[in-house]
Amino acid sequence: MVDHPLAKSRLTAMRDERTDNGAFRAALHELTTMLVYEAARSFATETFPVRTPVAVAEGTRLANPPLLVPVLRAGLGMADSALALLPESSMGFVGLARDEHTFQPRAYMESLPRDLAGIPVLVLDPMLATGGSLEHCVRLLVDRGATDITVLCVLAAPAGIERLANSGLPMRLVTAAIDQELNERMFIVPGLGDAGDRQFGGM
Ligand code: PRP
Repeated sequence: MVDHPLAKSRLTAMRDERTDNGAFRAALHELTTMLVYEAARSFATETFPVRTPVAVAEGTRLANPPLLVPVLRAGLGMADSALALLPESSMGFVGLARDEHTFQPRAYMESLPRDLAGIPVLVLDPMLATGGSLEHCVRLLVDRGATDITVLCVLAAPAGIERLANSGLPMRLVTAAIDQELNERMFIVPGLGDAGDRQFGGM
């Protein structure tokens, strides 16, 4: 959990139904920066000599830049700020749409490197509700050999966390908040509504 006053204020803006699409996207960008910053705390680094105008100092860089995987659509709003903080990373894409009636994810796009062995992966999706979408996405990554997987989301429901924990899939979850429950439409309560619609408008 990223428990920080600035993260809480951006999340509050995202929750507020009066926040328009542009302001919602801006808050998501800023909050993503904070989530990536926290998630990257445990990234492996390596040192190398760097020449300052005065002398040689010890420089630091990521030993193994990650693959960023936004889950379309809603995860798209996290992609730019994650890439800005991790410019050396590369990006793959997974497109999933949750069926309104069955709540099962329907995959409509997949653009990932074939072999992910040894590559840390950062999955970006603002919402973890039932966990079906993220379980599907992480399984795709594991099938390609990924073992170091971090999922970044803004809001998680306890049922979704439990589902991912019980999936047996290797992953770490970084979130700004864990909400109370899911309603009968499998929306997070109190949540923030549909993160895709609130960024890009209704479908
Ligand atoms: C939302 C959200 C997650 C998923 C969460 O996307 O962005 O991907 O639902 O639900 P789950 O944990 O129950 O699977 P949605 O399928 O609505 O598509 P969108 O991003 O295009 O709006």
